Formats: sequence, C-alpha cells, structure tokens
Amino acid sequence: MTRKNFNQSVITSPEGVKTPSVVMTDPAFAKRIINYFSPQFSPNDTFLDPCAGFNAFFDNLPYPKDRCEIREGTDFLAYNTPATWIISNPPWHGIGYAPFAKHAYDLADHVVWLCRWDTLLGTGRRHRDYLEAGHKLAEIIMCDWKEANFTFLDGTPKAPEGFLLCVAHFSKLHQGDCKMTYWTKYAKRQ
Ligand SMILES: C[S@@+](CC[C@H](N)C(=O)[O-])C[C@H]1O[C@@H](n2cnc3c(N)ncnc32)[C@H](O)[C@@H]1O
Repeated sequence: MTRKNFNQSVITSPEGVKTPSVVMTDPAFAKRIINYFSPQFSPNDTFLDPCAGFNAFFDNLPYPKDRCEIREGTDFLAYNTPATWIISNPPWHGIGYAPFAKHAYDLADHVVWLCRWDTLLGTGRRHRDYLEAGHKLAEIIMCDWKEANFTFLDGTPKAPEGFLLCVAHFSKLHQGDCKMTYWTKYAKRQ
C-alpha cells in the first residue's frame, strides 16, 4: 500500500484485499465527544483536527483551531505546529494509523481518537508509541457503532462491526490509572 491510497474510500493492499478506510463520523456524535472533554479545556488551549474529512469534529472544536485533510492537499505528516488538543477520527488502516498517531503524540499534549479498539490499543507497539512520546492512557470510552453512525465518502452508511469501537484519550499530563467509561447500551452511562 502506498500513501496515495489514502485518497480512496477503500484501501487495496498489494494482495488485493479491500479495506474500508475513510469513514465519516456523525457530527452529532463528534459534538458529544468534544463536549464530554470540554471541562478539561483551558482558556489558552489550541485545537487541531489532523484529518478533518467533512468537518464533523473540526466544526465543533473551539477556537483557536486548525485542520488538515490529505484529500484537500494538507498532509498531517508534513504539519508541524503543536496543538494542546488533537481530537478526531483518524485513518483506520493499521499501516496508515501508526505513523499518523505517532505524529499526533509528538505534536499535542492531549490526543483523543475515535476508532476501533484493536487499531488504537490492540498491540504492544501501539502502547509503546504513546508511552515513548510521553503520554499516558487517561480514559477509554466504549461506544455504540450506531451512535457513531459512520458513512463512507459517498454517503452510504457503514455497517456496525463486532470489533469494539472506542474513544481513547492519551495525555502527557495524566497521572494515575486509566478510567473506563461506557457509552454503550449494555452498560449504564456515567
Ligand atoms: C476515518 S476518516 C475520518 C474523517 C473525519 N475525521 C470524521 O471523523 O468524519 C480519516 C480521514 O483522514 C484523512 N487522511 C488520511 N491520511 C491523512 C493525512 N496524512 N493527512 C491528513 N488527512 C489524512 C482521510 O482522507 C479521511 O478523510
């Protein structure tokens, strides 16, 4: 797979395996995530959506804020302005996700990703990436696929998956254990 594949809604590996990679978040769910973390925002904080897509997160972030989107010609991997908070739904494909997440950990004090649990946290390498950048895992929110209401680039809905969907908050300022929060239908909301 090469970087230019990120322009596509479906990534095709050299073996011909097609993986849905570009899925857009329901703006109402993006707003819920940002509102949830907003009590932790400070007056001088800056915000970045590094992969804005159709702006579900970006439109709901406070100012000052900036955005990247490779399909519009702004590659986050070539963007080097630090931000206090990075909050978004990143590229999902494992090959694309890892360098993207590592760059986010370097640039921001707080990184909040909405993504599949296995992509975010499923390997030791994934954990070493944020720990080596000075972050700790502050919170995981288990989410319902239906509330995220993902769509592909052409607007067609993405089916829910058996893999867990979650929001993970990585923070350079966090001390102590990771908090587990449930936004799922099978656990009481906190
Ligand atoms: C999973 S989609 C999510 C889009 C949006 N954040 C949302 O939640 O609706 C990931 C987005 O990342 C973009 N992307 C992938 N690689 C990128 C890069 N290196 N720099 C900027 N954007 C990138 C894709 O084009 C796509 O729009």
